[in-house]
Amino acid sequence: KIIPAIMSGGAGARLWPVSRETHPKPFIRLADGKSLLQHAFLRAAALPDVEQVLTITNRELFFKTEDEYRELDIPRLECTYLLEPMGRDTAAATAIAALHVQQVYGDDAIITLFPADHMIRDIEAFRAAAVKAITLAQAGRLVTFGIMPEYPETGYGYIEAAGEDVVRFVEKPDLARAREYIASGRFYWNSGMFCFSAGTMTKLMEEHCPDILDQSRKSLLAAEQSPVASGTQIELDAENFAQVPKKSIDYAVLEKAANIAVVGCNIGWSDIGSWNALADLTSPDAHGNRINGDTVLHEAENCYVQSSDRLIGAVGVKDLIIVDSADAVLVAHKDQAQNVKQLFSQLKDSG
Ligand code: GDD
Ligand code: MG
Repeated sequence: KIIPAIMSGGAGARLWPVSRETHPKPFIRLADGKSLLQHAFLRAAALPDVEQVLTITNRELFFKTEDEYRELDIPRLECTYLLEPMGRDTAAATAIAALHVQQVYGDDAIITLFPADHMIRDIEAFRAAAVKAITLAQAGRLVTFGIMPEYPETGYGYIEAAGEDVVRFVEKPDLARAREYIASGRFYWNSGMFCFSAGTMTKLMEEHCPDILDQSRKSLLAAEQSPVASGTQIELDAENFAQVPKKSIDYAVLEKAANIAVVGCNIGWSDIGSWNALADLTSPDAHGNRINGDTVLHEAENCYVQSSDRLIGAVGVKDLIIVDSADAVLVAHKDQAQNVKQLFSQLKDSG
């Protein structure tokens, strides 16, 4: 049994103003009209022998999520929604998925865990990598997907590989170490996708983060289950879930576990970590401008301009990111794209 699970949550602060608490990064729409979440669902549906898709997300996002899936119109897929009363980071989300699958299908069921906040351009290569990972997971391994690194990004996990074995996993190193890793030529970026059997993951969590596993189990045992149009929703018990320690799966398990495998892959992966990465998905015109929506430009160069309902005009500007949304406009220098998240925290502080 192969069960894809999609984790969707997180704020996506670097994609303000389009990404908000009530409209986080997975709901951002690309130039093809589909959201990152819809792309994640389509990737899940493209795996062999898939009958149902699990989604672990915040309960506030349930209707929005179901709408996104319904729009894709793949009726043969049964959906199960594991709904969190609050975000407790990805170790909790992983524990809930593993425990649920274990309970319903047993230890040997394979979970492919996908984040909903990145883009993969080569679906065929992705499918081939996933099939390889599933075989390794069936042999009891925890499997990661390694991406050839391009620069010393400090926002990713790094995987030191020897063939298909992971020598070590380092989550979000500082810049000096990231540079070292890139220079050594032995490291991949961690894509954030994982593959494992329900039994393997629960055993690893028992060993490395038993508190997260136990508390997640309690909230799942006390959960309320009810039918919805596309399948089933399971609302986790808030009192117990609130007490799950907040940690990412990368720190809680990947940095600690032995016997991890890596499937190196070239799948056109992009984390879409900033407006620059999003801009890269649109082709530039003769002046290097990348445009989404209604825009009129004069003597503009190397800009990314995205409009929503209004026309945007820009004259004599260079290297700018200009993004309009219903109630806010962003203007930023391209070199400062990573710092857009500062606005997000300033806004949060001021209420
Ligand atoms: N359900 C749920 N609940 N989903 C969550 C939560 C949560 O509390 N927090 C985050 N997510 C979802 C995000 O929406 C995203 O799809 C995925 O889980 C990963 O979380 P991020 O918060 O975006 O992690 P990251 O980007 O800092 O780091 C991870 O991804 C990198 C690649 O993009 C790590 O796995 C890194 O090692 C990796 O390089
Ligand atoms: Mg991310």
